[in-house]
Amino acid sequence: MRRWGPTRLPCRAMARVFSGIQPSGDLHLGNLLGALVPWLDYLEEHDAVYCVVDLHALTLPKDPAELQARTLELAQLLIAIGIDPERCTLFVQSHVPQHSQLAWLMECTVSFGELSRMTAFKDKSDRSEFISGGLFTYPALQAADILLYNTAMVPVGDDQRQHIEITRDIAERFNSRYGETFVVPEHVIGPVAARVMDLKRPERKMSKSEESAGTVLVLDDLAVTAKKFKRAVTDSDNEVRYDRENKPGVANLLDILGAATGEAPEALAAKYEQYGALKVDTADAVVALLEPIQARYNELAQDPGETTRLLRLGAQKAQEVAAATYERARKNVGLVAP
Ligand code: TRP
Repeated sequence: MRRWGPTRLPCRAMARVFSGIQPSGDLHLGNLLGALVPWLDYLEEHDAVYCVVDLHALTLPKDPAELQARTLELAQLLIAIGIDPERCTLFVQSHVPQHSQLAWLMECTVSFGELSRMTAFKDKSDRSEFISGGLFTYPALQAADILLYNTAMVPVGDDQRQHIEITRDIAERFNSRYGETFVVPEHVIGPVAARVMDLKRPERKMSKSEESAGTVLVLDDLAVTAKKFKRAVTDSDNEVRYDRENKPGVANLLDILGAATGEAPEALAAKYEQYGALKVDTADAVVALLEPIQARYNELAQDPGETTRLLRLGAQKAQEVAAATYERARKNVGLVAP
């Protein structure tokens, strides 16, 4: 797609980036540093489209009031982190009806066998009592999300690799059956995406399902956060060295400090002799990172009208692109124009 600058001279086409996040559970430091901070990298030189995927959240049973509150909270948090609706497109998935519409065409393009091979489905269905049809067809909706925007790149964690691959397969199959309709996207794993581990059990990923002293929530009281770092598990050999395998607790602190300050964990290790000082500095860096995020979040949380305005704007921008793509798909597949 060509973009035209204010002087009407053609400027460089910016590659479209799309990513999504589910409004489920409290946002923790692992989500922030691992998934969301990398999103900020695409605000300058890409056409970034970011989405709160509330329809995907419905694939597992949810309390309606909680889903609603969490969707708004997550959108506000994204804005507070710096996902600036003026510099990108930020919207809620259910506000753009083409996601559900295209998902049906995707479901009819993907096979039962392909969906059965998704490891995310196997994991989630093993853990839940009620396995919805939506949980099974989840990847078809995700493919619709991505393909609606002629997406070139999808920055997501490694756990999403299979979902991006199936999206590519669906796009290619649709294009070969019905003629060129979709751009086939690439998977991008951010080069610096930090893997944040639990502060108490550093051999496990930090997770929101585990309400523990080892999980730091983005909206936690900052004094509590600082305390959690001071009580983080290290080891008994008293040497600050970056060694994920043998010294997971210390390496995790170095990774977090590095992600919060933009420095390399190996270089940081050389600056410390004692665990105590490393913990204090990591706590301080995380508090400094979270303080302005919480302040901006609180502002937005007190002004729901502003959030609504920003999300409407986002949905409008998204829909312009989504409607054109859906129309192309509808026509190519042979559905009669309404
Ligand atoms: N499945 C993704 C996750 O669990 C969320 C998601 C939904 C997504 N639609 C997307 C990610 C489109 C990237 C692009 O993290």
